[in-house]
Amino acid sequence: MKTILHVSCSPRGQAAESYRLSQAIIGFLLKKEPEAIVVERVIGNGMIAHVDEAYAISQASSADVSTEGSMVQSEELIRELEAADFVVIGTPMHNLMVPSALKAWIDHVVRARRTFTIGPAGKVGTLRDRPVYIAIASGGRFSGERARQPDFLTPYLKAILAMIGLHDLTFFSVQGTVAGPDATDETRRVTFRALEEHFSSLFAPS
Ligand SMILES: Cc1cc2nc3c(=O)[nH]c(=O)nc-3n(C[C@H](O)[C@H](O)[C@H](O)COP(=O)(O)O)c2cc1C
Repeated sequence: MKTILHVSCSPRGQAAESYRLSQAIIGFLLKKEPEAIVVERVIGNGMIAHVDEAYAISQASSADVSTEGSMVQSEELIRELEAADFVVIGTPMHNLMVPSALKAWIDHVVRARRTFTIGPAGKVGTLRDRPVYIAIASGGRFSGERARQPDFLTPYLKAILAMIGLHDLTFFSVQGTVAGPDATDETRRVTFRALEEHFSSLFAPS
């Protein structure tokens, strides 16, 4: 049976635009895999603490110095990620970047000697690659001709997820949510059409 891991990163929970978009993506995945189990990992409420002292020391040394605290949380989150056939990350843009809740999750799942190794070739991911969908909501625009701000979010996620072996990333976004309900509705329609196109070509019978 397939597993879809949904990492939900907005402090607005189920009312969030990024949650709505990630639910739409999960809907398409479930059409393809109706038996799939969806594992909900809600982190936007701040449930993941920042990494602790022992974890920080172990990341800066050549051995793990603790099997408690953040190391336990890290292991739980990594196993959840390893078990997933599909990953859907629903996230807002906060200050041009990922929100701190998502950064805290990343600090736990990107772990030296566990999800990446360091050698002569640099850092090499150890996770099996799998499709990762990233559903972004932003108040302003960060891509296209109407972008008025830099985007550190998408290049960052590409780099950090590649570092642990996840290269198969697909981004969807609803941008410009501060422009009001009508403009947001229109943006949603455009994004949902892109979703339909993506999944119909991906899952077309061969
Ligand atoms: C702390 C914070 C920082 C934000 N920074 C940005 C930003 O840099 N660029 C942007 O376009 N929107 C920014 N926003 C607006 C959110 O991205 C926007 O409201 C988005 O639609 C929220 O998505 P959500 O409903 O999934 O949480 C910020 C919002 C908050 C709360």
